[in-house]
Amino acid sequence: MTEPTVKEFASFAVVPAYFISLAVYQWILTLLDVVFIRRDLRLLLDVPKLKSYAFGRFWNKYGDFMSADMPPETTRLLSTVRGTILDVGPGTGDQLCHFDSAKITRAYGVEPTTNLHEKLRFNAKKAGLGEKYTVLGAGAEPESLIPALAKEGVLADGAGEGIFDEIVVVRCLCHMPKPRESLDTMYRLLKPGGRLVTHEHVCNPWGKEIGGSFMSLVLQYLYVYPWEFFINCRLNQDTRKMLFNTGGRDGSGWSEIHLEHLLPWSTLPTLVGYLIKKT
Ligand SMILES: C[S@@+](CC[C@H](N)C(=O)[O-])C[C@H]1O[C@@H](n2cnc3c(N)ncnc32)[C@H](O)[C@@H]1O
Repeated sequence: MTEPTVKEFASFAVVPAYFISLAVYQWILTLLDVVFIRRDLRLLLDVPKLKSYAFGRFWNKYGDFMSADMPPETTRLLSTVRGTILDVGPGTGDQLCHFDSAKITRAYGVEPTTNLHEKLRFNAKKAGLGEKYTVLGAGAEPESLIPALAKEGVLADGAGEGIFDEIVVVRCLCHMPKPRESLDTMYRLLKPGGRLVTHEHVCNPWGKEIGGSFMSLVLQYLYVYPWEFFINCRLNQDTRKMLFNTGGRDGSGWSEIHLEHLLPWSTLPTLVGYLIKKT
């Protein structure tokens, strides 16, 4: 693993503050929009809905910019996705250009933030997935996802076991209100031998002998609350542990686990790779 330069370390120390400042700006525009254009004052009292709406505005504006430099480990991995897939939280579809459309038989994008759907459909078409890609206005929670899939006729008799060859979750588990429950649902929906493909920013792995940094760990704690409020996302979630404990304790639900930490020294360490469900 390569050590960061002082400049790299310093820039990652302030990157979360920069993203938070962009989100605050979009929050101000959201409030002005809700009060003066939509005139929907009730929305001001529904904080989760307001946060989701403000995030949609933020992601519509900056999603492509925040997706411009995806690491090669991720783009290579996404180009191998195949079969019938569930694309969880695709946002505006900025990752779809990395998919190989010829390898995909059918895709379902479950995206609960409805103000992202228009751009998502546009990007699916641009990536050559137009006919094969169905956008569902649902979240990954079972009470939302299962009826949405059933309505599409994907679940035989509403069963919901072993449907998908692959499930893709990119920068999304940190946004879900109940990530463990959602992962359990994804596990059930995955065929035995199927792959869960992921790329997630996670808690700094300091103390785990994989190049974590105490300083970045502390910085994550400083940023965690404004990041959660304005970006609607958990900056330091232990997603690796959640993935390991899906389908059984300590990785026993998976026949193979290939996960690596990128930028482990930073405030945005990222876990990239895949897990194969036991047959
Ligand atoms: C940071 S964006 C990532 C978008 C896309 N995956 C990418 O990497 O370009 C996080 C996405 O997760 C979605 N999301 C939020 N809550 C969710 C939930 N409960 N289930 C599924 N997706 C969710 C958001 O609407 C948003 O599109």
